[in-house]
Amino acid sequence: MPFWPSSNRGAGVQLGRVEAPVTVRGYLMCVFAAFGGILFGYDSGYINGVIGMSYFKHEFGHSGWVNNDDASDGYFYETWQKSLIVSILSAGTFFGALAAGPIADWIGRRTTIIAGCIVFSLGVALQFASTTVALLVPGRLIAGIGVGFVSAIIILYMSEIAPKAVRGAIVSGYQFFITIGLLLAAVVDNATQNQFDKGAYRIPIAIQWVWAVVLGGGLLLLPESPRYWVKKGQLAKATKALATLRGHPVDSSYVREELAELVGNYRYELKHTQSSWLDCFRGGWTPSGNLRRVVLGMALQMMQQWTGVNFIFYYGTTFFKTVGIQNAFLISMITTAVNVCSTPISFWAIEKAGRRALLIYGAVGMAICEFLIAIIGTAAPDSRAASLCMIVFTCIYIFFFASTWGPAAWVVIGEIFPLPIRAKGVALSTASNWFWNFIIGFITPYLLDEKYGNLKAKVFWIWGCTCTCCVLFAYFLVPETRGLSLEQIDKMLEESSPRNSTKWMPTATFADSSILERDSALKDSPAKTVGVRDDEGSEQKEKV
Ligand code: BGC
Repeated sequence: MPFWPSSNRGAGVQLGRVEAPVTVRGYLMCVFAAFGGILFGYDSGYINGVIGMSYFKHEFGHSGWVNNDDASDGYFYETWQKSLIVSILSAGTFFGALAAGPIADWIGRRTTIIAGCIVFSLGVALQFASTTVALLVPGRLIAGIGVGFVSAIIILYMSEIAPKAVRGAIVSGYQFFITIGLLLAAVVDNATQNQFDKGAYRIPIAIQWVWAVVLGGGLLLLPESPRYWVKKGQLAKATKALATLRGHPVDSSYVREELAELVGNYRYELKHTQSSWLDCFRGGWTPSGNLRRVVLGMALQMMQQWTGVNFIFYYGTTFFKTVGIQNAFLISMITTAVNVCSTPISFWAIEKAGRRALLIYGAVGMAICEFLIAIIGTAAPDSRAASLCMIVFTCIYIFFFASTWGPAAWVVIGEIFPLPIRAKGVALSTASNWFWNFIIGFITPYLLDEKYGNLKAKVFWIWGCTCTCCVLFAYFLVPETRGLSLEQIDKMLEESSPRNSTKWMPTATFADSSILERDSALKDSPAKTVGVRDDEGSEQKEKV
């Protein structure tokens, strides 16, 4: 029984059969992986509250004469310490995401995520045990490497196991869990902030183990990505994984046809590309060239950061105070809640309106809000009515981000790479997200600080302009990938440009093009079938 209506894109009789109908069980298995978003959201969110706690300042800072609002009973951290504690996570995630790509091609997607959970737990142990910055910082670096593994490879894993009709919605679920992670971090920090013992920071830190255990433990029960097994030439395992995911027997025609499509596509791709790091940058600026896809993925994640969203999540409290809004903490809680509540809209919209439309209209909505905040804040800096308007437009802005760019940027990077370089492409794109996350986090205090930029609400002129770049970027460069299998997306990129990609329809399957080969292959046991290149793409391997 289909659980979700299939997209009618490419609904030719044969083409519609490329995948089995989605069952509830299959759907829930894919959704479980989205839980990894909690690690991402909670880990990046909890430090903001902890660093402001009095006990934490006593424990990790030092006393002395200081003339700033940041000190608690004279205890404070040096600026470099504060910056290091916060930003070291992004350094870890950046390198973790980059390393995770080749590791996922080597030991598998699922195993890499589980390894990420173990590395993350080690980092959490160091943070938990720490009473000085000297131990806290390596702890955050190691936890960051684990989050880097998880954040890059979850997207890859989910995109590869999800049925095409719900792939966008399922990957959006990952963003939903990021927002829940951010919210939980704010709630836990708020609950322990007034405690004056080690529990104040150790409770928020220790809770991270729960996410790692649930994710790592749960993944042990899920199958490896069938596309990974195809890449390794292990077709018996690919068949079994696909059958488990789709809820059909291994010899059902659905499983056989989908497998034939994966194998057909992989063999086709291997004629055009290999899977080394260098291959990620080959192919020039043609729409289907690897270089263009990698630039698209990295730029998309850069643009997601350029929307300015983390200005609100990392520095919202500071910003609202500088523009004279009293209960800035409450406002931050509200924006975090709007973020959580608006994300589910994307589950429906991403399949209905498509990725491209969401990115274009989402950026238009955000840019308008940002320019309005800049205009109001610049024209009436001390007015109460103006403050209220700024809060309202900030919430509308978050609504647009959460329902469009938040999820869609992750969905698209999971879809645009051909299998030989997919793991590395997703890893590079995710590393770009963390890199720009770090850069924006680092420069923002300078934009706001009285001693430097002192921009106040004028900072939104900058975010309005960068968001306008997001509109142009989405319009000219992002193709529509909705309703196509990952293999059909490859063909679509070859045969259309981003602006007419929405109208593109598949006319043949990869399996069709080698149908005779496939039929004879599938008559035998799957392990006997097709010779495909090994991980390094260097040799042909026949399974006997
Ligand atoms: C972004 C994060 C951001 C979060 C907010 C994610 O998609 O990559 O940088 O903090 O959304 O919900």
